[in-house]
Amino acid sequence: MTLEQARKQLEAENQAHVLRHWERLDAATRTALLEQIAALDLAGIGRMRAQLTDQGRGTAPTPTEPLPAPVVRLDDDLYRRARARGEQALRAGEVAVLLVAGGQGSRLGFEGPKGAYPIGPVSDAVLFYFHARKVLALSRSSGRPVPFYIMTSGSNDAATRACFAAHGWFGLDPADVFFFKQGMWPAMDADGRLILDAPGHLFMSPDGHGGTLSALRASGGLDDMRRRGIRTVFYFQVDNPLVEVADPAFVGLHLLRGVDLSIKVCAKRDPQEGLGVVVQRGGRSEIVEYTELTEEQKNRRGADGELVFRYGSVAIHLFQFDFLARMAEVALPLHVAHKKIPVCADDGTVATPAAPNGYKFEKFIFDVLPYANEVLNLMFDRREEFSPVKNAAGADSPDSCRRDLAAKWARWLAAAGVDVARDGEGFPAVPIEIDPAYARTPEELSERLDGAGSLDTGRPIHLKLS
Ligand code: UTP
Repeated sequence: MTLEQARKQLEAENQAHVLRHWERLDAATRTALLEQIAALDLAGIGRMRAQLTDQGRGTAPTPTEPLPAPVVRLDDDLYRRARARGEQALRAGEVAVLLVAGGQGSRLGFEGPKGAYPIGPVSDAVLFYFHARKVLALSRSSGRPVPFYIMTSGSNDAATRACFAAHGWFGLDPADVFFFKQGMWPAMDADGRLILDAPGHLFMSPDGHGGTLSALRASGGLDDMRRRGIRTVFYFQVDNPLVEVADPAFVGLHLLRGVDLSIKVCAKRDPQEGLGVVVQRGGRSEIVEYTELTEEQKNRRGADGELVFRYGSVAIHLFQFDFLARMAEVALPLHVAHKKIPVCADDGTVATPAAPNGYKFEKFIFDVLPYANEVLNLMFDRREEFSPVKNAAGADSPDSCRRDLAAKWARWLAAAGVDVARDGEGFPAVPIEIDPAYARTPEELSERLDGAGSLDTGRPIHLKLS
């Protein structure tokens, strides 16, 4: 793009100020700025501005009252049938795994990709290890590779790839691991002007987990899935090492029901827990964010004494490939956040203000729900499958996650006939870690331990493939 083309384009969008420091930029910065301008999504910028104006005028329609969405539980018979169907799809090579790991992990405050955070209770193995070893275990039990798609961001892509390379790809074949970068959006001030954070640079931030779909298309990820004959995609987040990756019973139930999208849901810890809840509105499914529920809705109880909006989503989903590909073409809504953004003044100096001064825009993956033919909500036991690493300390921290991991594996060991001593709160008294490629399920662990001799439960227990 030439300077003239850039100027014309920016003027048409009322963004001519982006070039106001042009005369003082060196050649390399000029080239980089022109590249940034050429890559701008002009339609997106128009939507961003419209969104800010709508917000100010309060023109959004008042939503109708949500109803709690139906939730399915698996009984023994349904579980067996669903698992058999899921295993069939895995053996046919029709299932892929999609991990979103582009977040900034600001609450955890860890330098580097969150997936490189050491979480293994015995080995300090990183979050990526547990996810990748589950993909490996699934690939082995299915007799064919389960392709693994990982979304990174501009700021953690190189470090994520380096982490995989440094750990020998955790045993996976690199040919079956596909990294792709999520998109970035510029930010705007209250007047709808794009924000420069340096004389020759537009401030950009990741476009949210809803950006997964367009990034998957733009990177060739969707084409790769199509080429491999993928029909079902398991989606999850990087911060939860308890997740059952592409759990065959979940996959199978999703396929037996013929739905576009399935969601694993769990009962909220308490009315104030910040999970989005699954609801129906006007006959369509939605996830309503915690912040969008009124206090009355959060605390409302039914005749059975349970919360009416009880079931929350922890972003464990299954998508049919055709639905995913269709959604990659849809302009998802933009969610606005008022933030402190470093800004370059007219004299070229850069400062971050003490109060929010600009607006960032993000897309959310759950905004695809209303487009699905039907959404299946499957209930899971959160003790078994959910304990995220979000905060540096307290609830949902590395400490609570390690304890929950060890407690889960202690239950697996107990089911295999190995009793581990407990502390006063009922948690295992020794650290426990099980490599998912050693045993992906309690049944596999029982088989492995049968005849393996007695375990010394007085010391840390680390079961792994040698
Ligand atoms: P969170 O909403 O927990 O955000 O992301 P985060 O960036 O990890 O952490 P904080 O809020 O800054 O502390 C949930 C999941 O979505 C991914 C994250 O990597 C995580 O797996 N994500 C989030 C993206 O891939 N891209 C984004 O732009 C945002």
